[in-house]
Amino acid sequence: MLSSRTIEIIKSTVPVLERHGTSITKRFYQTMFAAHPELLNLFNHANQSQGRQQTALANVVYAAALHIDKLESILPVVKQIAHKHRSLGVTADQYPIVGKYLLGAIKDVLGDAATDDILQAWAEAYGIIANVFIQVEEGMYAQAEKQDGGWAGFRAFRVARKTAESDVVTSFYLVPADGGAVAAFEPGQYISVRLDIPGEANTHIRQYSLSDAPGRPYYRISVKREDALPGKPAGIVSSYLHAQVEEGDVLHLSAPAGEFVLDLADKRPLALISGGVGLTPMVSMLKAAAEAQPDREIAFIHAARRGDAHALRQEAEQVAAGSPRVSTHWCYSRPSASDRETGAFHKEGYVDLSWLKQVVPTTDASFYFCGPTPFMKTVYAALRSWGIAEERIRFEFFGPSGSLREA
Ligand code: HEM
Repeated sequence: MLSSRTIEIIKSTVPVLERHGTSITKRFYQTMFAAHPELLNLFNHANQSQGRQQTALANVVYAAALHIDKLESILPVVKQIAHKHRSLGVTADQYPIVGKYLLGAIKDVLGDAATDDILQAWAEAYGIIANVFIQVEEGMYAQAEKQDGGWAGFRAFRVARKTAESDVVTSFYLVPADGGAVAAFEPGQYISVRLDIPGEANTHIRQYSLSDAPGRPYYRISVKREDALPGKPAGIVSSYLHAQVEEGDVLHLSAPAGEFVLDLADKRPLALISGGVGLTPMVSMLKAAAEAQPDREIAFIHAARRGDAHALRQEAEQVAAGSPRVSTHWCYSRPSASDRETGAFHKEGYVDLSWLKQVVPTTDASFYFCGPTPFMKTVYAALRSWGIAEERIRFEFFGPSGSLREA
């Protein structure tokens, strides 16, 4: 346990560290990767180069330090991050490395202001926080391994089928190369794919939501090809998967992870709202809910640019055709002439509160949503202004987590 003096030092220095946040985390990653280049195999370089990941880790350490005397209150946050760490294969022996370079960076950036007392207090606090993560992750590794069809680390899967779902999204059906069973998962969970791409110095790991319902003999991921945009290079991994990976090839996957999952004990009407490729966990939830809860009202709401970019449409419509309680609602921001001719969409423009009120006829529903950050901000603000309680709103960011609640 930390002394009250140490806790006092921690709490009084958090604001200073936050003020220097970007410089500290930049320095932290630079020095850590210089000394441990093998860690470059673990981190997402796209997130790094956009600076997104650079603040997430240190911010959580600062936030946790503020709650150092009641760490149980941050356990939900720890669990969500621990799922990601477990899915990536982060190990206990890597925590002291992160601690060493984070402290070193604090020292470098604060200079003389970083007294021995301050550095000692932060070293102790980091040790306690790291132990919480290590313990939670140990439990998750054990659970992933002992589950039927489960495994620890990465396992070889063969691409049994590759199908284009739209002009930018392609699905991969993945079966264990060892012929064994696949572990069960909860709709909404993701897997990590680890790739050795020819010509790349490091391996790349990416998370993809499982897009089919549980209980199939395969896992399916549906991957959006991230084309180059001004100021943003094309996605190395998604481009490789789309252009190079074919049926019969082998990919390495970690076991399903994640806390953004459908509550199948909940009987309230269900609204599944997605934007773009954020629909992948939603399709899994839709199919699972329709199979397990045939009496549940489900509104499946999706925003796409236009028909060509609208993935898995038929699949969702098939579910709706099989159940009078399931309805589908399409919102296109830039419909094509043929979308107009065929009446392919229900709303033109963007998802907004007045439309949501039309397609979800009750405030008593449970809402799940996923998509690009601006989309998520809009949906979250709309639901809150409609008076939907926080506990009935669940969402997931793709990429490093952000906060909508502060948005
Ligand atoms: C991701 C916090 C230790 C490797 C993250 C995220 C946070 C975080 C907040 C983002 C999660 C998300 O996007 O949902 C922490 C904290 C740590 C810690 C507070 C220490 C107490 C470590 C260690 C490693 C590690 C020891 C391994 C060297 C990663 C990686 C990611 C990640 C590879 C994914 C980043 C990416 O997408 O590039 N961590 N982490 N973390 N963490 Fe940690």
